[in-house]
Amino acid sequence: MNLKKAAGIEAAKFVKDGMIIGLGTGSTAYYMVEEIGRRIREEGLKITGVTTSNATKEQAKKLNIPLKSIDEVSKVDLTIDGADEISQNFQGIKGGGAALLFEKIVATYSKQIIWIVDESKLVDKLGKFPLPIEVIPYGSQQLMRLFTEKGYHPVLRKTKSNQTLLTDSGHYIIDLHLQTIDAPETLAKYLDQLVGVVEHGLFLNMVSKVIVASTHGVTVTETPHSLKIDHENN
Ligand code: 5RP
Repeated sequence: MNLKKAAGIEAAKFVKDGMIIGLGTGSTAYYMVEEIGRRIREEGLKITGVTTSNATKEQAKKLNIPLKSIDEVSKVDLTIDGADEISQNFQGIKGGGAALLFEKIVATYSKQIIWIVDESKLVDKLGKFPLPIEVIPYGSQQLMRLFTEKGYHPVLRKTKSNQTLLTDSGHYIIDLHLQTIDAPETLAKYLDQLVGVVEHGLFLNMVSKVIVASTHGVTVTETPHSLKIDHENN
């Protein structure tokens, strides 16, 4: 079986009746959403989905998955999403599919997060995959200059037809070609405070389980991180 499909199907097993599920974005998350759709159709599974992009929303609607927005739920029980890179200590880069802003918002309000990947996404250190930064268009060239001065090798993301890519929120994406990120937390703090930066693709200390599909099979690994947000007790 296709590795991304194998990871997606495995993750869908963690979905239980009554849960509010964050539905990720990308070619791996696609299979998880399809499998949840199948379980609703064939097994009568009852869940509510919270989507992380317009693309996933369209897919979920076609599968008749009941949906709510992140603002209509008090919490998300479990979010299942893909990732572009996962380091040995379970830090991640996301946003290759330009959905990092909604993905991070949904992740932030999720009790548990599962990432689903094929083995090619596992790395020793983050940074080979260009780090996506979602920015406000106004002033984005100033950010391009700043990132160039800092040696971050920024590239403004374009569509296949060479137009500047617009995210679901109408922002731009600047990809930083860093090669290696020695201190992800320091970089995240720096990016967090930059004016004009809406969000970045460093997803740190967030993921609860990682499901990896390889030619040898599918493994599920519990991580030491978990947001464990409990809104009832806050
Ligand atoms: C989208 C994402 C995706 O989860 C990430 O790019 C992985 O995608 P794929 O499963 O297609 O490799 O972060 O913004």
